[in-house]
Amino acid sequence: MDGKALAERIRGEIAEEVRELGEIGLATVLVGDDPASDIYIRLKHKAAAEVGISARDIRLASQTTEEELLEQIEQLNADDAIDGLLVQLPLPDHIDEPRVIRTIAPVKDVDGLHPFNFGHLALGHPTHVGATPVGIMALVEEYDVPLEGARAVVVGRSDIVGKPVSLLLLHANATVTICHSRTRDLSAVTREADVLVVAVGKAGVVGRDAVREGATVIDVGMNRSDEGVVGDVDPAVAEVAGRMTPVPGGVGPMTIAMLLRNAVRAARYRRGLLAFPGA
Ligand SMILES: NC(=O)c1ccc[n+]([C@@H]2O[C@H](COP(=O)([O-])OP(=O)(O)OC[C@H]3O[C@@H](n4cnc5c(N)ncnc54)[C@H](OP(=O)(O)O)[C@@H]3O)[C@@H](O)[C@H]2O)c1
Repeated sequence: MDGKALAERIRGEIAEEVRELGEIGLATVLVGDDPASDIYIRLKHKAAAEVGISARDIRLASQTTEEELLEQIEQLNADDAIDGLLVQLPLPDHIDEPRVIRTIAPVKDVDGLHPFNFGHLALGHPTHVGATPVGIMALVEEYDVPLEGARAVVVGRSDIVGKPVSLLLLHANATVTICHSRTRDLSAVTREADVLVVAVGKAGVVGRDAVREGATVIDVGMNRSDEGVVGDVDPAVAEVAGRMTPVPGGVGPMTIAMLLRNAVRAARYRRGLLAFPGA
């Protein structure tokens, strides 16, 4: 499943929408100097610039206090030029992450992590939903993967990937099982999957014998190795899977494209072109 090609097409569509809507502002806030976070932020800014979104790259020192960070977010909440706002995670240990996320104005929360947006997703009328889960669903739709009544297994239960994608699959009428580090006999569960989403962060956590013949396999993992970036799924799984996303070139580019789409969505909400539910 070619995420790179689909993402490229979507970015073209977004560029067109940005031309129609006019100026759109996206702000990212990064605290500290984590090298992986730095790479993700750079990719997001490069992609935003390419579609004509004005992105503001706010970098704060690792010793920034929680109060200082909250103040920065409040400023961005009040800034009319900013439509979408994301705080790159993880934050340094001395900062209360849930409190920071709760401070982001829900209408600008392009990562869909604010309890307001997450609650709407859980209730089945999504507002802002994170770019990775939305990107996974776009790939599944592009390749006409049947979800109605299908058995979907999601490995990983993070707020950014596992939980939201599980909810989206559930709303698409799949029968969803969520696995995590305490799941007993993981491969027995994953073998049941028609659609398998793996978001763990450990190379090879799903092997060839853990996948049913013909299954659709979405590999979200991005793990650094001597051979470069590798996924969570053993590449040998491609021999049994019906369809599979590569790493790199699968979910990664879709995430970037969908973040841009979420920024456009935020602009539509803020301009009254789309209704954002009242709090
Ligand atoms: N391609 C993209 O755009 C993109 C976007 C986001 C993330 N990622 C990548 O996706 C991976 C997951 O990211 P994340 O943020 O969701 O990670 P995370 O917050 O660390 O969550 C990992 C999840 O995997 C579970 N887990 C850990 N070891 C396991 C095992 N042996 N068997 C089954 N489950 C296990 C954990 O279970 P517990 O809850 O029990 O601890 C947890 O729920 C990472 O490689 C990350 O880099 C890629």
